[in-house]
Amino acid sequence: MKILSIVGARPQFVKMAVICRAVDAWGDGSLDHRIIHTGQHYDPEMSEVFFRDLGIRPPDHHLDVGSGTHGEQTGEMIKRLEPVLAAEHSDWVMLYGDTNSTLAGAVVAAKLGQRLAHVEAGLRSFNRRMPEELNRVVADHLSDLLLCPTPVAIENLRNEGLVARAVLTGDVMLDASLAFRDQAERRGGPLAETWQPRQFALATVHRAENTDDPGRLRNIFAALERIAESVCPVVLPLHPRTRKSLSAAGWTPRAIHVIPPCSYLEMILLESRARFILTDSGGVQKEAYFVCVPCVTLRDETEWSETLENHCNALVGADVEKIVRAAGNAASAGPWTAVYGDGAAGRNIIAALTSHA
Ligand code: UD1
Repeated sequence: MKILSIVGARPQFVKMAVICRAVDAWGDGSLDHRIIHTGQHYDPEMSEVFFRDLGIRPPDHHLDVGSGTHGEQTGEMIKRLEPVLAAEHSDWVMLYGDTNSTLAGAVVAAKLGQRLAHVEAGLRSFNRRMPEELNRVVADHLSDLLLCPTPVAIENLRNEGLVARAVLTGDVMLDASLAFRDQAERRGGPLAETWQPRQFALATVHRAENTDDPGRLRNIFAALERIAESVCPVVLPLHPRTRKSLSAAGWTPRAIHVIPPCSYLEMILLESRARFILTDSGGVQKEAYFVCVPCVTLRDETEWSETLENHCNALVGADVEKIVRAAGNAASAGPWTAVYGDGAAGRNIIAALTSHA
C-alpha cells in the first residue's frame, strides 16, 4: 500500500513524524510512504530543524512554494502538486491539520479522484473568519477517511453528515509528546540550562487574527509585559509573521524574553517546564494539556474544547485584564484527564488505512 503525505508547515511535520514511526513499526514491509513538502515553511528553523529533531527522512518532493497571499500560496501549491500526485498515484493521500498545504492537497487529490485521509479531522472553532477553519471544513468534506482525535470531533462530523467516514484514532500529537519528551530532557542545551522548572511562563503568538490586527497585537503584548514585570519571566519564541508585525508597528518588547523560533524538542522541553503557557496556537494548547501545564489561550474560541474542562485552559481573547487575571489564576487549574487517547493514534491510523484499503 502506497501512502503519500503532504506537509508544509511546522505542526504538520510533528504530526507526520508519528505516521513515519507507525509505518516503520508496522513491520510487514507492505507500506511504502512518500513525502511531499510544499515549502509553505522554508526558514531552516521553521522546517529543516523539525525534520532533523523528529528523525524524518528528507521529503521525496520539495515544491518550494514559499509565502504569499492565501490565493497566491494555495494556487501555486495546487499547480505544483497536481503533476506530482498524478505521477505518484498512491493508494492514500494523507493530509494533516488545517493549513493552506492541507487545503491545496485536498483540492488536487479529490479532483484527481485519489483517495484522501485527513489526520486531525472534525475540529471546528465555528469561526469562519479563521483561514484554518475554512481549510479544515473543505479538507473534511473532500476526504474519504476522517481520522478524528476526539469524540467531540466525531460529533462535529455527525452534525455535518460526515460521520460514516469518521474513525476515532486518538491524537497524533499526544503520541509525539510521549515519544520525544525524554529525548528533549536528555538533550538539554542552553534553553534547558537557563529556564528551570516553574520559574517562567512560555508564550507564543502567531495567528493572523492576532498578528494582523494592531489593536489585538498591542493588547496581547501589553499583557505579556505586565505578566513579565509582575508575575514571572515570560519566554517568547517569536514566529517570523509576528516579528514582522511587531516591527511594522514599531514596537519592541521590553521585559519579555524574546528568542528565535524553537525546534520541536526545545519547545516540548519549555512547555513541560513552564509554570503556565499563553498561546494562540491550537497545537500548543494541546501540548500544554498533555504535560498538565495550565494554559491561557489568546483567542475568542478554541477547536480544542476538551482543554477547557477543569479550567485547564482559559479562553481570554486579546483583553489585557482578562489575560493578566487568567495568568494569576493558573495555579488553580486541573485535574487533567485523558481525553486525547493513549498515545497509539499513529498505529490506529495505519490500521484504519489498511482496513479501508
Ligand atoms: C501557518 C498556518 C497555521 C499554522 C502555522 C504554524 C495557514 C493558513 N496557516 O501559519 O494554521 O498554525 O502555519 O506555524 O496555512 N514566514 C517566514 N519564514 C517561514 C514561513 C513563514 O518568514 O519559513 C513568514 C512570511 O512572512 C509569511 C508569514 O510568515 O508570509 C506567514 O507564513 P504562512 O505559512 O503564510 O502562515 P503561518 O502564519 O506560518
